[in-house]
Amino acid sequence: MNQAPRERWTGRTGFVLAAIGSAVGLGNMWRFSYLTAEYGGAAFVVLYVAFTVLIGIPVLLAELAMGRGANSSPISALGHFGGNAWKPGGALFVASGFLILAYYSVIAGWTLRYALVALFGGFDPDAKQYFIEISQGRGAVIGHVVFMAGTTLIVARGIRAGIERTSLILMPVLFMLICGLAVYGYTLEGAGAGYRFYLETDFSKILDAEVFSTAAGQAFFSLSLGMGAMMTYASYLSPEQHLPNESLVIGGADFVVAFVAGLVVFPLIFALGLSADVGESTLGALFITLPKAFSQMGIAGQVVGFLFFAALAVGALTSAISLLEVVTASAMDTLGWPRTRSALVFGVLITLLGIPPALKINILDWMDKLAGQLFLVTGGLLLSIFVGWVMKDPFSEVRRGAEHWPWFPVWRFLLRVPIPLALLIVLYSFVQKMFCE
Ligand code: TRP
Repeated sequence: MNQAPRERWTGRTGFVLAAIGSAVGLGNMWRFSYLTAEYGGAAFVVLYVAFTVLIGIPVLLAELAMGRGANSSPISALGHFGGNAWKPGGALFVASGFLILAYYSVIAGWTLRYALVALFGGFDPDAKQYFIEISQGRGAVIGHVVFMAGTTLIVARGIRAGIERTSLILMPVLFMLICGLAVYGYTLEGAGAGYRFYLETDFSKILDAEVFSTAAGQAFFSLSLGMGAMMTYASYLSPEQHLPNESLVIGGADFVVAFVAGLVVFPLIFALGLSADVGESTLGALFITLPKAFSQMGIAGQVVGFLFFAALAVGALTSAISLLEVVTASAMDTLGWPRTRSALVFGVLITLLGIPPALKINILDWMDKLAGQLFLVTGGLLLSIFVGWVMKDPFSEVRRGAEHWPWFPVWRFLLRVPIPLALLIVLYSFVQKMFCE
């Protein structure tokens, strides 16, 4: 087994920023805005908020309690609290990490490339054609490999020197960038139409089953839930931390960044009269519509475009390290490998697995549906049932550092009945959509 004592975060700030770094990523800026556009604006946002509060934060707390309590990554944590029969569930988590990081890194590679293009010459007005050219093929593979190399090096350096330090520097930068961009969006003439689309609620859409499940899936993805990322980060925590408060802070920060990202994206698109493009929104939305907007804005477009895609790349990096950390920590905890070997071996394997989605965007889309939606929701279902029904005394884990937390019965009830039911509905709708259409 692993001989070295388990590393720890330096303190509360380090953990919270790293966890926010995991949560805030492409999910907040790219996935959130394209889904909001596709599913009719504010109705989707309202559902997303509701699911973040009712499902996301309780499951996040469950992950934190398990990780800190077991002091280990998902496979061993499930074994610790549930016995060996539960260990294969942890394997599902590790598989999700593998698959999600493989395509996530391809998208992150696009953002790197776009940031450079903005800086050194500006965007091609024919943004769609450009996106089609660069999103698949050799260029995409190069971006992916560069991004994975950075991610692997950070994880190999460890919790304090790698993950914590990166988050400490990059998260404040990201917050400032995104707030600055939102202020800029406000100054644009015609921004109002963007705000209206984003913030006016058409409540009839809320009852749509597809909107419902997509919003729940997004709440999961955005909070990095359902595959043990938060669990793994919590395994480096010291016992005196108030976990319910940490969950609120992480969930709140994640929502704020997604929301502010919407305040950047929609005014830009509407101010430049590109709202028709929003309707045909898909995977590529952000990478087509926004560059088109930037290309019409001259030098300002170059600056703003660079800052926007740099912010995306930063968010992607702090998320990617949490995905790789799950796989790395699992190899360390179960195989007893040293950190450097685990990070390098799995970094390389995931880089290889990312080549097919870098060559064909259809594969990427499919991997996102399979792992980014189906696996995560399945993982969340497993977690809520596990902590709600199987784990003997989950409150004793939560209570350390939070003696007087009054919400315990509500939390446990949510995990026992409403959350599994909601997730089952979501799962059913995903399966139906994936295989029956
Ligand atoms: N939450 C990140 C985002 O919004 C992505 C991410 C990082 C993730 N780690 C995860 C998603 C673990 C699911 C599970 O971009």
